[in-house]
Amino acid sequence: MAAGVAANAAGVAANAGDWDERRAGGRGWRSTGDSSEKQGRAARGPAPDPPMFHVEHPSSAGTRVVAVANQKGGVGKTTTAVSLAAAMAELGRRTLLIDMDPQGNASSGVGVRVSPDRPTVYEVLVAGLDVVDAIEPTSVPNLFCAPATIHLAGAEIELVSVLSREHKLRRALEAVRGDFDVILVDCPPSLGLLTINALSAADGVVVPIQSEYYALEGLGALRRNAELIRAQLNPDLEIIGFVLTMLDGRTRLSQQVVAEVETHFGDQVFRTRIPRSVRLAEAPSHAQPISVFDPTSSGARAYHALAEEVLARLMLTPARSGA
Ligand SMILES: Nc1ncnc2c1ncn2[C@@H]1O[C@H](COP(=O)(O)OP(=O)(O)OP(=O)(O)O)[C@@H](O)[C@H]1O
Ligand SMILES: [Mg+2]
Repeated sequence: MAAGVAANAAGVAANAGDWDERRAGGRGWRSTGDSSEKQGRAARGPAPDPPMFHVEHPSSAGTRVVAVANQKGGVGKTTTAVSLAAAMAELGRRTLLIDMDPQGNASSGVGVRVSPDRPTVYEVLVAGLDVVDAIEPTSVPNLFCAPATIHLAGAEIELVSVLSREHKLRRALEAVRGDFDVILVDCPPSLGLLTINALSAADGVVVPIQSEYYALEGLGALRRNAELIRAQLNPDLEIIGFVLTMLDGRTRLSQQVVAEVETHFGDQVFRTRIPRSVRLAEAPSHAQPISVFDPTSSGARAYHALAEEVLARLMLTPARSGA
């Protein structure tokens, strides 16, 4: 544990440099979606900075915003958001993990500890602070996190009477869309204003489904909600896919659930299934994503494969293989 914390600290320091520059100067790395071009550009020397605030259509900006959502509790949303974000970063994609859950598990899962003088997602949504100032580097190269604390619970109430309350996150992310290839948003277990903000900001949603008897319960409500959001707030919202989590392939019940989910959602179910794994459950207590905590574990390999599938569905092929 102590060795893990020391390694995390060294990695954070190594990763922090360019984000500090981004904060200070307001000019930073811009996403091109092609790392070979980035490397070539590095060899030729720095390219002129593009204008900092320019509004682009999401697809032309190259940044994909993906919400990880299911209003059911404990189905593996945070584990999926953290593990996917780390795997995508390791695949060479500049990745931002936004913690939209007052439980703050995604933040601690990537080793980000919030100090009282640092803004979090709460200040971004409620006080309109620049999201750039809330973003922290992590120990994983290419992986950044905008953390949350329990204060975020207040946002559900404080935003109720605010104009355009459903679009707070979307507006905030406009400032950093070009800085990242992928922005993953970990949603809380509810269909409240925080999840609505995430779905309004997202290009697509990944839905973890726990491989258990009541797996399909509540998914009708989630789909109806996604339809409502598409109709009223965000016409671009797509369901990228459903991912089966905590699968125990040995039990007949798990096999029945897989069959039922596939009958229901067909091709929308990712081929990669996430096994139940003690190492995945242990990783958060070490403040490390599974790919750092135990890179050869079944859980790490599964999330690596899932990251490749998600990137392919987002039409962002991995910049390099590995991990
Ligand atoms: N594949 C897995 N194998 C074993 N344990 C897992 C796996 N995925 C998640 N867990 C564990 O199950 C619990 C719930 O997972 P997680 O926190 O990711 O769910 P969640 O949907 O984000 O929960 P919440 O709705 O409270 O936000 C955690 O203790 C987590 O470590
Ligand atoms: Mg969670």
